[in-house]
Amino acid sequence: MSEPEQVPLGVDTTKPSPARMYDCYLGGTANFQVDRDAVARIVELVPEIRDAAWANRGFLQRAVRRMALRGIRQFIDLGAGMPTQRCTHEAAREIHPDVRVLYTDNDPSVVAHGRQILADVPGTVIVEADLRQPEFLLTHPEARHLLNFRDPVGLLVVAVTQFISDVDDPWGLVARYMDALAPGSYLALSAPTADHAIAQKVDRILDVYATSTVPLVTARSAADIGRFFAGLEIVPPYPGAAPTLTSTGLWDCEDPDAAESDGSRWFYAAVARKPRMAANEQTRQADPR
Ligand SMILES: C[S@@+](CC[C@H](N)C(=O)[O-])C[C@H]1O[C@@H](n2cnc3c(N)ncnc32)[C@H](O)[C@@H]1O
Repeated sequence: MSEPEQVPLGVDTTKPSPARMYDCYLGGTANFQVDRDAVARIVELVPEIRDAAWANRGFLQRAVRRMALRGIRQFIDLGAGMPTQRCTHEAAREIHPDVRVLYTDNDPSVVAHGRQILADVPGTVIVEADLRQPEFLLTHPEARHLLNFRDPVGLLVVAVTQFISDVDDPWGLVARYMDALAPGSYLALSAPTADHAIAQKVDRILDVYATSTVPLVTARSAADIGRFFAGLEIVPPYPGAAPTLTSTGLWDCEDPDAAESDGSRWFYAAVARKPRMAANEQTRQADPR
């Protein structure tokens, strides 16, 4: 999809798209000149941006592996981006060859490219869906056909909540997805932060994204990112660590003293488990009066 004459219907090539920019950070080819120009402007501001993107993708891969090792055999990947570069089904299949993965994104270029890539991959589906419409996805016939909602699911919300403004209540949206999943399900979430950055620099990065197909980007504090995990049991990120948010570099690392980099500090991440229901909640669900 690197030449304009191959543009699928509905794809806007006049503006950079965050999905194609991210593909470009990861060294992919599913992007256009307009995306590469925007990436060049970001690289000038944040030379470590490719490192940040890879640290984030590394978190996704390790989180999927850890969830699969804990018995998760089906995943929903919201705002999945291009299904390339050792994405969810590739990481999960190393543990469960029969894994099922529902990919979703609201960028038509992701869905068009994803359909081509996943056409021959059993157990995978890609659906065009906006994260802000949980009911649409949760009742979508392809989702209901692929997944068994009585069994635990691994929900991935990786590097996407920055595109959902506070007005749309991203915390409530993530909770709505988790509410629909069985106890024992997991949430893996990462989000960019401006906690360690100079405000002026962040403003200039946001100026570049303001020209994109998703013009509003929100970098959040650790406290606000931590709110996504309310009511869930955060998994300790690495042996000996407290169950809390970390940078993507630290998550599941072998040596915390060596694992972080300038890039990996741009994102906070955690994986958390939906607890089994308390006995009184089970009664309430069975008899909701
Ligand atoms: C930075 S990429 C992250 C890709 C992948 N999750 C990862 O972390 O490796 C963000 C993705 O979120 C998608 N996105 C942005 N807003 C969205 C929305 N409202 N609903 C669904 N996807 C969205 C973009 O199209 C893009 O593919």
